[in-house]
Amino acid sequence: MTSCQSSENLASPWSPAPKGLEGVVVANTMISKIDGKGGKLVYRGYDIQDLAGNIPFEGVAFLLWVGHLPNPLEFDTFKKNLGEHRNIAADVKIFLESAPHEAVPLSVLRTAVSIMGLRPSDKDSILEDGLNLVSQFPTILSHYQRTRNEEEIIAPRNDLGHAANYIYMLTGEVPNKKHEHALDSYFTLLADHGMNASTFSARVTISTLTDIYSAIVSAIGTLKGPLHGGAPSKVWEMLQEIEKPENASAWLKERLANNERIMGFGHRIYKTEDPRSKILKELAKENADPDIFALATTVETEARKLLQAEHPARPLDTNVEFYSSLVLSAVGIPTDMFTSTFACARAFGWIAHIMEQLADNRVFRPNSEYVGPLDLRVPEAWRAKN
Ligand code: ACO
Repeated sequence: MTSCQSSENLASPWSPAPKGLEGVVVANTMISKIDGKGGKLVYRGYDIQDLAGNIPFEGVAFLLWVGHLPNPLEFDTFKKNLGEHRNIAADVKIFLESAPHEAVPLSVLRTAVSIMGLRPSDKDSILEDGLNLVSQFPTILSHYQRTRNEEEIIAPRNDLGHAANYIYMLTGEVPNKKHEHALDSYFTLLADHGMNASTFSARVTISTLTDIYSAIVSAIGTLKGPLHGGAPSKVWEMLQEIEKPENASAWLKERLANNERIMGFGHRIYKTEDPRSKILKELAKENADPDIFALATTVETEARKLLQAEHPARPLDTNVEFYSSLVLSAVGIPTDMFTSTFACARAFGWIAHIMEQLADNRVFRPNSEYVGPLDLRVPEAWRAKN
């Protein structure tokens, strides 16, 4: 309460709003379901454990957008369509080649999407706009990355899948099957996740019937924060700082003693291990450097123990970001591109939600409870001046 307020003139009575909208249902969706107690994530009826790595990512993307798994013809057509939308426009290239080299790649992506949205689009072109967006994210990011490294730009190849083409454009090498499989599975695991903050942003923005590019810009801005998609590079930095397994316990204790959070742990919905984390851990074991994997598993065990002691009533386990950092690094993604690579996957979910929102739209317009003072009067001294 500020000095000018007294308890008598506060608006009353009021009940505290659910902080962070915890437990509030804001939409019905048929896209994905999270079982926080059982540690399960389902896309349109299919468990992600069954989807990841068993169906190429393009099939999962089709499932999210269309609602059923594609037949072979639908799969080939969708994959071809994605491949054919990969080239970026000249004005986007000019921006990427003039952007400051120290910019965060996700901020570059956000601005590039804004530029893409300069051309008028209408709601009938949502599928075309959606294809442009998801197909061009990897092209935008690799174009920027190679520009700032003063490397030759590599044009997209439309015969490669979403994952393989991204690695190819970034590194100049078509990835081996193991790396392609790891990134393809990562894309599946990260493509959608209920009403997470960035998806909510996209739905709120599109509910005003603005254009899809504006909704995706909102979503990217929301994903950027460390409490959402910005954590994997911080996990990587933490592992680099800890350096070796024997340092883990002391490092984590000191961090908790300073009231700082351990990145890659905790989740609003999961009260047990994030199911995506289990699969990512397997992928990290197969692909990451064995020393870094050993360090990560020690940090996981130690952090779990310490967090359990500190929050006995609230299980805090690894979330999707913890092992993502190892998988992304192993397939050749630079650390500061982890969150923008997350965006390459989540964009498919954002667009599925935008389409779902538009199919039965009502503008989001919740209430707030005013809890400030009432009946204050502008002081006479001010009245005299004006
Ligand atoms: N390390 C230490 N303590 C934690 C952590 C953590 N990683 N996560 C939660 N806590 C503690 C909080 O300090 C708080 O303690 P208190 O009740 O004594 O104040 C309690 O657990 C509850 O925390 P909230 O912030 O209320 O939990 P919320 O559901 O709002 O937050 C979040 C979830 C943001 C993921 C949180 O666990 C966190 O900050 N984790 C670290 C960052 C991270 O990994 N982000 C990636 C999230 S995954 C994704 O979005 C893709």
